[in-house]
Amino acid sequence: MCGRPVVTDILACGRQFYCPAVPQIPIEFAVAAYRFGHSMVPMKIRVQKKANPFDLFSEQLGMGFSAVPSPDAIVDWREMFSPSGNANAQRAERLDTKMASQLLDLSIITSGEKSLATRNLLRGNSFLLPGGDKVARHMGRPADEIDKVMQKIADVSQNRITEGAPLWLYLLAEAEVIGRKTEHTQDDPGEGLGPVGARIVAEVLIGLLELDERSYLGADRSWTPEAEWDSIGKMMLAVNSNYFSDEQGGRAG
Ligand code: HEM
Repeated sequence: MCGRPVVTDILACGRQFYCPAVPQIPIEFAVAAYRFGHSMVPMKIRVQKKANPFDLFSEQLGMGFSAVPSPDAIVDWREMFSPSGNANAQRAERLDTKMASQLLDLSIITSGEKSLATRNLLRGNSFLLPGGDKVARHMGRPADEIDKVMQKIADVSQNRITEGAPLWLYLLAEAEVIGRKTEHTQDDPGEGLGPVGARIVAEVLIGLLELDERSYLGADRSWTPEAEWDSIGKMMLAVNSNYFSDEQGGRAG
């Protein structure tokens, strides 16, 4: 999500902004940056190969954490985490300023604000989060980059927000118009976090691992997983090869 170059830079040169004496989750992470996932939730989810997708909040998927009512709704994890990079697997939506409409009218909220977007914005306001443009300037991001993101925010807010943009919204707009830095191209709009979001998320996650002496980064920085264990799909294959046997025969590649 953050792009390999940002992660490599933090691992090689150290963290610049997340430097607590003891591990903690900063509000910029919990209230804004890591909520990026809300933009990537799809409206419909296909849980089995070639089956029809179900609505996100539907009886078929077990509303409110109740048991799913039919075998058709049992998740086939081969569709979610494919060791062979199966092109049919369920994919997340783009990371941008749009959200699934069901998240804007949450059926799981029985009283109070039902829009997840509004909840995120109100939460940022009540925690007095600094504006995204201010955070970006503090991080030394170039003015033309900040202007580009603020232009997107002006567009989606119909010019109501021209400065002091809510941090969560700033990071979504940044992901949409700039996106993740990759090794092959300069940027990858919509495919990952932009420079400010990636820096917050990667520094916090790496920092939490570094500050935990029992983690692999805290205990042995040179450790890397074996190639056959370096993705969730491959781990599932390793612990239960029978489960993936038809995938190996029919869809490997
Ligand atoms: C169907 C999917 C999801 C639903 C319905 C959902 C719903 C919610 C709700 C209602 C809140 C509390 C909002 C508030 O009042 O402040 C919340 C918080 C949060 N969500 Fe989600 N969310 C979903 C998916 C995700 C994903 C995919 C991510 C990240 C990848 C994520 C990250 C977070 C974070 C970091 C918080 C704040 C937690 C805290 O402050 O302790 N959510 N979510």
